[in-house]
Amino acid sequence: MFKKSCRVFGLVLLCILLASQPCLLRGQSRTDVITATENPKGWIITSHSSTYQLVVTDEGQVMPVYYGPAQHGIPQKPIGDNPGIPAEIPVRGGFANKTPVIEAIFYDNNRDIDLQFERAEISTLNGYPLLSIVQADRHYQFEVTSFIRVIPSLDLLEKWIEVRNLGNKSIRLENLQSGSISLPADVYELNYVSGYWGHEYQPQATLLTTGTKTIQVKDFKSYGIPAFILSRENNLGDVTGNAWFGTLHYSGNWRFDFDKDPEGSIQVAGGINFWDTWWNLKTGDTFSTPILTFGFTTAGREGVARTLSKYEKENVMKKANKDRLRPVLYNSWYATEFAVNEKDQLALAKIAKSLGVEMFVIDDGWFEGRVNDKGGLGDWTVDLKKFPNGLNPLIKKINDLGLDFGLWIEPEMVNPNSNLFRKHPDWVFNFPNRTANEVRNQLMLNLAREDVYDFLYQSLHTLLKDHNIKYLKWDMNRPLSEPGWPDAPLEMQREVRIRYVANLYKLIDTLRKEFPEVWFENCSSGGGRVDLGMLSRTDVFWASDNTDPIDRIFIQYSYLGYLPANTMISWTTHEDAHNTHPSLEYKFDVAMSGVLGVGYDITKWSDSQKSLAAKKIAEYKELRPLINNGIVHRLVSPYTSEKSALEFVSTDSGKAAVFFYNLGEVMHGSTPGSRNSTKVQLRDLDAQKRYKSSLDGVLYTGEYLMKVGVAWPLHGSYTSKIATFDRID
Ligand code: DGJ
Repeated sequence: MFKKSCRVFGLVLLCILLASQPCLLRGQSRTDVITATENPKGWIITSHSSTYQLVVTDEGQVMPVYYGPAQHGIPQKPIGDNPGIPAEIPVRGGFANKTPVIEAIFYDNNRDIDLQFERAEISTLNGYPLLSIVQADRHYQFEVTSFIRVIPSLDLLEKWIEVRNLGNKSIRLENLQSGSISLPADVYELNYVSGYWGHEYQPQATLLTTGTKTIQVKDFKSYGIPAFILSRENNLGDVTGNAWFGTLHYSGNWRFDFDKDPEGSIQVAGGINFWDTWWNLKTGDTFSTPILTFGFTTAGREGVARTLSKYEKENVMKKANKDRLRPVLYNSWYATEFAVNEKDQLALAKIAKSLGVEMFVIDDGWFEGRVNDKGGLGDWTVDLKKFPNGLNPLIKKINDLGLDFGLWIEPEMVNPNSNLFRKHPDWVFNFPNRTANEVRNQLMLNLAREDVYDFLYQSLHTLLKDHNIKYLKWDMNRPLSEPGWPDAPLEMQREVRIRYVANLYKLIDTLRKEFPEVWFENCSSGGGRVDLGMLSRTDVFWASDNTDPIDRIFIQYSYLGYLPANTMISWTTHEDAHNTHPSLEYKFDVAMSGVLGVGYDITKWSDSQKSLAAKKIAEYKELRPLINNGIVHRLVSPYTSEKSALEFVSTDSGKAAVFFYNLGEVMHGSTPGSRNSTKVQLRDLDAQKRYKSSLDGVLYTGEYLMKVGVAWPLHGSYTSKIATFDRID
């Protein structure tokens, strides 16, 4: 019965579309990108290479009808020829043939939402075209505005939803996602990255079959990135193939659902994970979701990577810092761990300075009660046993050396052995009659509480105000468990995770506003909280606690598929997880493909190690504008080969640097990867101009380098080389 009526609806829609013409709706404006149409009533969004079309049916439903390669004129058919596609804002209500983005309970316990189109507006937001569509429930005073902001040159649609309670009784939101898209019916492969501690961003690929595939976080720890790529089966190449992709601007708990219906169409929904969560929307209140960015490219995996990284730099990262060259830093964690004192830190700083380091960071261990990881977290005052005169005399000496100074903090956690916990045991997450699990001897502060927020704000404000700190490494080392909040009113208790993230964001935002000159690093036991919510607030991400260079080649390659290189901090350290004894030069070459740091105990270095490090840091500084602000092309994947290569090209194509890495060497032809061509083709050069290669000093045309390529320049396991290509014409 239901299917039949849907088919009829689909045919009607198809006829309407075939006869339709774009024209303006009364009271609406038009941008080049968003056009209002009257027959059918709706909108066509046309960006560089994609088209998105929405219609309003005679029954007042807002329906997406097309999303994919650019169509000229009116797209001819509804999505996937499949009449059962979900609405633009699918809700829990009516037929259940979709993944709802809104689920609510009204004051009389009615759980069924029925939305109807009210009005729409085309405007601009921060210079980009914006379509706002207002729908309202047919009976209850519940208004839903869905936004689509278009970034045409990048083929991106930013979607988010605002719901408003215009009635005089609370509405309980049981689910509110950021948005949904539907793709033409076909067989799709889903690609995304996930992992675990020390093994972040491992690529995952699966065919979507009938049913729902969910990727989600339930304990605030991701070790992946809230992002996905969808492509037709076997159609996604490195630089070719259509891909639909998306990423969510949210930390904490998030989810994506990929719902394939039996007739083949795919709906993707994503947003905050409402598992064990609700939100009570009081009279007059509005709830806004985080942004979910959807994109389309015709240029394969690298098209996704380039689009995302450009988008993140231009539209997500802090304007003041997005292009600022990142300082080369030294972090003393591996050298001294918790045993920090003025004398040792100064000795390290002096050597660091002689190597060319610009920022000296003291990691864990500097605050009261922190002799090991069993105590001290929560007491954010300097340990006077370790620094009898406080940190300022040391900071001054470090500054006098010509180095900036940075510090580690982990504000969201507390050790039971701390003054803070003794004074406020009720400030941690806990459920009555349950043990609060400790991880690394830590409990988690309930940052949803305003008193916890105030305490953290005061502590961190004072720390930054009283010291010349230029870099803050913000760590978060445990997953969420037992998220109980017994002394909150019952209706607030399940809001706790959303309130926590909101206060976390507010805390960072407030501090950054007050101390704009401080760099912020985002760390979460490695890359446990890497997402666009944090990217809009912090400048660099600690991608993994795994600093073995071989593992890092994999981790970094994956990371660069979703995020810009100037956000990826990487240190050279003593770590040699696989007993491969990689050389110091190899370690530098790996760490130099992002934001370079040094984590060794450099007091133990020989003169030759120091001079090699100084040489590599100087080389890094030379290439830094290219690495930090150029365009990254992942040329050879370590996941499919025994080697890897990354290319960084300046935005004017005038200079390129290629990082070549050999992994374990195998006999030529003995593995699929080694049967590939031994040539590597560069990308993004000026075809007609000549480039001088540092590999052999020879001049090559850009065309030659891109079509024929350079011979793989390495022999032997765990060898590396950085080559430059300078345009000379
Ligand atoms: C975990 C981080 O990932 C490390 O880099 C270091 O900061 C330790 N925490 C310190 O406790």
